[in-house]
Amino acid sequence: MYPSHRPRRLRRNAAVRRLVSETSVEPRHLVLPMFVREGVGEPVPIPSMPGVVQHSRDSLRKAAVDAVSAGVGGLMLYGVPAQRDAVGSGAVDPDGILNVALRDVAAEVGDDTVLMADLCLDEFTDHGHCGVLDDDGSVDNDRTLQLYGEMAVAQAQSGAHVVGPSGMMDGQVGVIRESLDATGFSDTSILAYSVKYASAFYGPFRDAVDSQLKGDRKTYQQDPANGREALREVDLDLAEGADLVMVKPAMSYLDVVRNVAEVADVPVAAYQVSGEYSMIEAAVANGWLDRQRTVLETLTSIRRAGADIVLTYWAVEAAGWLRDARA
Ligand code: PBG
Repeated sequence: MYPSHRPRRLRRNAAVRRLVSETSVEPRHLVLPMFVREGVGEPVPIPSMPGVVQHSRDSLRKAAVDAVSAGVGGLMLYGVPAQRDAVGSGAVDPDGILNVALRDVAAEVGDDTVLMADLCLDEFTDHGHCGVLDDDGSVDNDRTLQLYGEMAVAQAQSGAHVVGPSGMMDGQVGVIRESLDATGFSDTSILAYSVKYASAFYGPFRDAVDSQLKGDRKTYQQDPANGREALREVDLDLAEGADLVMVKPAMSYLDVVRNVAEVADVPVAAYQVSGEYSMIEAAVANGWLDRQRTVLETLTSIRRAGADIVLTYWAVEAAGWLRDARA
């Protein structure tokens, strides 16, 4: 061994480790996904996501204020409607739960945070797919696009700063951009779920939004085997006007996050999805993992892979830990 090769010198105490640390996670990097359910007076726990709830309109407002004071970078809202139909009417209706909740939160926290809205029909359709169906039951890309355009305008009108199309329809970013520009919302940004895999890790989310889906989303979400295809999706979304791009899920796709971060000239987000949350919470509940260390390690890894922004259900708690660590 060469005596000069001693990497441990730079690990010998906390001060030197802090000095040479390459990756940081700050509260502002974290975005909190939040669920709001129509017609409930109290928050409803989500059994497969311990610690996460479907908010009532009231509890959502309070939780949004708490998240903003914790210093998180933004909020991503999902609506759980009381009624669903074949075309997901509740998504474009100004009185639909997601649009109402956006107005509630905008009135409460205004421009103190970045308010984002999931732009997808799956929570609002009675069949649970992300778009409308053809006569043969397959998802009709182009008819769905028209509804996404209307949904984007409804969300922008309700106060969303950023819309997040998550349905993986071809051309969705371009159509949404045109609809927003045509209606005076050229300042509303698009966070494109450019790279979204058909993943088993969305399982608990489907409980969280009472998903009606039978079957799968493999005709529109990506095959977990495909990495190069992710870059093609990103190129298309950038050409159509995406302001930010996202990779989802995060932890099983860190190579994809890295590759996207190398080519994209816009901010890159990664979504640590429901299943990633639940599996760690389950291990923690069994006493098998240390919660805070595990969560912070995952967030650091996602940042190290190249994500500028991380969507995570731990955003508020992690922001608290990060603040305490600095104090
Ligand atoms: C679709 C959507 C999904 C998620 C975010 N947006 C579910 C899906 O594609 O089945 C998953 C988020 C998570 O698992 O945390 N609107």
